[in-house]
Formats: sequence, structure tokens, C-alpha cells
Amino acid sequence: MAEHKNISAKILVVDDEPNVLRMVSYALQAEGFEVVVAQNGNEALIKVLTEAPDLVVLDVMLPDMSGAEVCEQLRKKQETIDLPVIMLSALAQVSDKIRCLEAGADEYVTKPIAPEELLARIKALLARFRQVRRSLPKQPGKVLGFIGAKGGVGTTTVALNVASALVEQEKSVVAAEIRSSYGTFSAQLNLVQPQGLVRLLEHDPGKIDAREVRLRLADLPSGLRLLVGPQCVAEYRGMESKQVEAIIQIIGSMVDYAILDLPCYSSDANQAAIRCCDMVALVVEPESTALASGIVAVEQMKSWGVYGKRLGIIVVNRAPLAIPINLDQLKTMLEHEIIGVIPTAAEALITSQREGLPVILYQPNCDVSKAYIDITKRISASAGWIR
Ligand SMILES: Nc1ncnc2c1ncn2[C@@H]1O[C@H](COP(=O)(O)OP(=O)(O)OP(=O)(O)O)[C@@H](O)[C@H]1O
Ligand SMILES: [Mg+2]
Repeated sequence: MAEHKNISAKILVVDDEPNVLRMVSYALQAEGFEVVVAQNGNEALIKVLTEAPDLVVLDVMLPDMSGAEVCEQLRKKQETIDLPVIMLSALAQVSDKIRCLEAGADEYVTKPIAPEELLARIKALLARFRQVRRSLPKQPGKVLGFIGAKGGVGTTTVALNVASALVEQEKSVVAAEIRSSYGTFSAQLNLVQPQGLVRLLEHDPGKIDAREVRLRLADLPSGLRLLVGPQCVAEYRGMESKQVEAIIQIIGSMVDYAILDLPCYSSDANQAAIRCCDMVALVVEPESTALASGIVAVEQMKSWGVYGKRLGIIVVNRAPLAIPINLDQLKTMLEHEIIGVIPTAAEALITSQREGLPVILYQPNCDVSKAYIDITKRISASAGWIR
């Protein structure tokens, strides 16, 4: 028989009954497990992300939603798709069990349960899960970099809207500002954010792990999570390539899509970030200075090994143009596919920014939103993006 005695793990116990929480936590802690608790479904959904438990003991009847609904939500997200879940219920009806098992629970036990039995089930499930996980390499998420041909061309606006559109497609997404100086996610979304990237950069690359990264992410109500860059000069930090690689690799392993907002200057750290990308979208404006910078940027990407299907061009018309742009000419100049053209939308962007929302969430039916959504569809449908 397998030996499960000293398996160490963090367990999230979800129950609205303080007595059950106390009893189960005590039994688990006595066996050396680390325990975190939640008293309703929403708190549980937050804690699975911020605490990264190894297993969840989930009550079926919670005040805000059913345990089965919590379980369904967990199964929809890349980072919790296979998180072991034991449902704990006072209901012994076969139909209740079936509902929970269909929602993705691994086990269903009825209360009252002897603590020894619950412990034995937890240990067996953890051991089985770890064995399966070892034999199945996890498919990492896609890493998409957005980089401007020069500053101020609309790159961050594209990155945040594409990231939000992917969330609308029920993908798990982290958008990260990987830059050593000022990042505008907070300004665009009206957020007062704790330090994100800056705190991660305090660590040696080997010390940056999934738990540390999760702690530094900001959760938006839409479901999008952000790693916010420096917010003032005092937070400007040099970044080592190895730190950047560690952060991107961890984010990529947590989600379906990592969206990187990258600076347009050349540096070792930026090169490292770009090398981590499955695809890079270069954002240009159809005006001569931005296009000249675009040509140089394409040259730079090529020298870093990013070209062909790994590189796409997004054209942003920040100002209305008297002369329409010729996309074929642009494609020839920049030698790469145009994956989208964003129309002028100063007003829609200003009003959505005032509300702290990406425009695709605030005015999903306006032309600029449709353009961001189209780009997102092309991005998610593209099979050609390989490392
Ligand atoms: N399609 C558009 N039409 C009109 N204005 C736009 C459009 N896209 C972006 N803008 C505006 O352009 C300004 C710069 O946008 P954004 O911050 O996204 O650019 P950036 O390239 O990320 O800049 P930075 O180099 O500072 O990071 C913002 O005020 C934004 O609202
Ligand atoms: Mg920007």
C-alpha cells in the first residue's frame, strides 16, 4: 500500500460553519498540513489564486453559491483545472453527489465524517494527484508580447483590450508590465495598486516562485489579473534577464495567456522577455516617424530571432487621416502580416478610461472595440505561433 503519512501540503477548507472549520483545520494541522480557510464561495475562488492550495475541502452549501458552482468555476480556469477537490456535505442524496461529481469534484463525502477518514482520503487523493501530475507535463500558456515601434503609439491600450477580450472568451489571463520604468496599467484602469513587479525584482531569479508571483498580482473584477510595473521614479529598477525569464515562465505556466506590455527600447532584459514570447505584436502608427521606427524594430526583432509567423503588425490610427493608409504598402515595408487595424477612437477611449475600464468592456459594440476583438480572435485562432 502507498505510504501517505508525511505528505506536506496546503489545504483550503471552505465552510460557513465555524465549528466545522475549526474541527477540520485542527485535524489537518495535527497531521502537519498547512491550512487556510474560506467561509463562502467568492472567498474560496480568491484564495485558490492567492494562496495556491494543493487541495480544497469544499462544503456543498455555502451562503453565496453552491459548492458545485465553486467547483465548476475552478474547472474553467487553467490554474485550477486539476486542483483536487473533496466535497463535504450533509446531503446524502444520490442526485446531489452526481451534481458535484459532474461539476468536477474528485470525491464526495457525507457529514458527519470521522476526521481519520477525511485525512485518509486527503492523503490518498494528494498522492494520486502528484503521481499523475509527475507523469503529465503541463501545457504552458501562450506568451504574447506587445511592443510599440516607438513610445505613445497605443501599445498599452491594445494589450489591455486584447487581454480583456481573452478573459471574455473565458481564458485565464495575466497582463504584465515588464519594464524597468513607468507603467501605465494603473493610470489606464484607475487603480491604486500595491507594488507588483517591483517587489518581485527584489528577489534573486531562483527565489521567484509561483506563490510569490501570485501574491503580486492585482485582481480586477472582470477576472483579468495584472502585474503592475513601477509607478514612480523611486520604484524604477534594473531588471536582470534571468529575473524576467523566471517571472514570464511562471506566469505562462499559470494561465492560458500571458500578455506582456513591453517597452520599445533595446536592453538585455527586454530581449530576454521577447525571446520568451510565442508571438510578438509590433504596434505602429501610419505616420512616417513611427513607420521608420517600425522598420528598425522589425530589424531588431529579427536579430533576436523573432520573425515570420512569430511577429505580427498592429496598426493604430490615433488621429484621423486625410489620406487612407495602404495596407499592402505597409506590409511590404514591415515585411510581416498586418493582424489588425485600430480606428481612431479618442473619445471612446477617454470615456472608458474615466470609468477605469478597457473600452471593449465599456462599449463592446463600438468600432474600436470590434477591432480589438477581431485581433483577439485572430490571435487565439492562430496556430502558427511557436517558440
Ligand atoms: N485608436 C486610438 N485612437 C485615439 N487615441 C488612441 C488610440 N489608441 C490609443 N490612443 C491614445 O493614445 C495615448 C497613448 O496610448 P497608450 O498609453 O496605449 O500608448 P503606449 O504606446 O503604450 O504609450 P507609452 O509609450 O507611454 O507606453 C492614450 O491617450 C490613448 O488613449
Ligand atoms: Mg504603454
